[in-house]
Amino acid sequence: MAWKNDQVNEKETARILELARACVKVPGDFVEMGCYRGDTSLILAEMLQRDARLREKVRCSVDVRRSTSPSATPSSSPSIYAEASQELGGKDAKKLWIYDSFEGLPEKKEVDKSVMGVLFRSGELAATKREVKERFLRANLPVPRIKKAWFSDLTPEDMPEKIAFAFLDGDFYESIRDSLRLVTPRMSDEGILVVHDYTNPALPGVKRAVDEWNNREKYSFEVILL
Ligand SMILES: C[S@@+](CC[C@H](N)C(=O)[O-])C[C@H]1O[C@@H](n2cnc3c(N)ncnc32)[C@H](O)[C@@H]1O
Repeated sequence: MAWKNDQVNEKETARILELARACVKVPGDFVEMGCYRGDTSLILAEMLQRDARLREKVRCSVDVRRSTSPSATPSSSPSIYAEASQELGGKDAKKLWIYDSFEGLPEKKEVDKSVMGVLFRSGELAATKREVKERFLRANLPVPRIKKAWFSDLTPEDMPEKIAFAFLDGDFYESIRDSLRLVTPRMSDEGILVVHDYTNPALPGVKRAVDEWNNREKYSFEVILL
């Protein structure tokens, strides 16, 4: 299904999806920091659902092979399912974790100010958790873990143990800085972290937060700046 997204353009959406797809075999879950109405979350969830269905299909076909070929028992052929599921990225379906204040953007700091960004004001881009949840239910997609909080109030306990793919879209300096603080320690080595608006002149705080972080941290995972 093609989801309408007024926050991330079509080209960026295609790139995000491509990068997320590349992470289905990477250990860990998917995360979006700043989900707003859930447009990108729905796209990620749909992709994960497709992957989970494929995984289930492989599992069923392996089970059928086992039941029709008595010699293919787990003890004589223990690797059929393991190989198939490993090929698909492990046994467990990935979960999607999404975070937002659901009160819109926070206060803008000096570093966030720009002539082009005057429309990005505190309280803009407010959605409700309920609205996001209902969109998932209507789309017949698994409802993600939806956490309502300011990023500055989140702790490592609020995050998945391991992250395969993360999309940071908090627009402002502190929002991106806090997202990096929460997400980077949990990233899988082969994972991908995408930061939106790095090159957007209307949101200079994003670049500032990433550049500061880059100077301090050495990553083993890939960082993509959109
Ligand atoms: C540009 S929108 C996100 C768009 C969404 N990623 C999409 O693709 O549709 C930014 C969102 O980040 C949230 N946000 C920004 N800073 C935040 C913070 N410090 N804590 C919690 N939420 C924040 C806002 O409430 C807003 O919903």
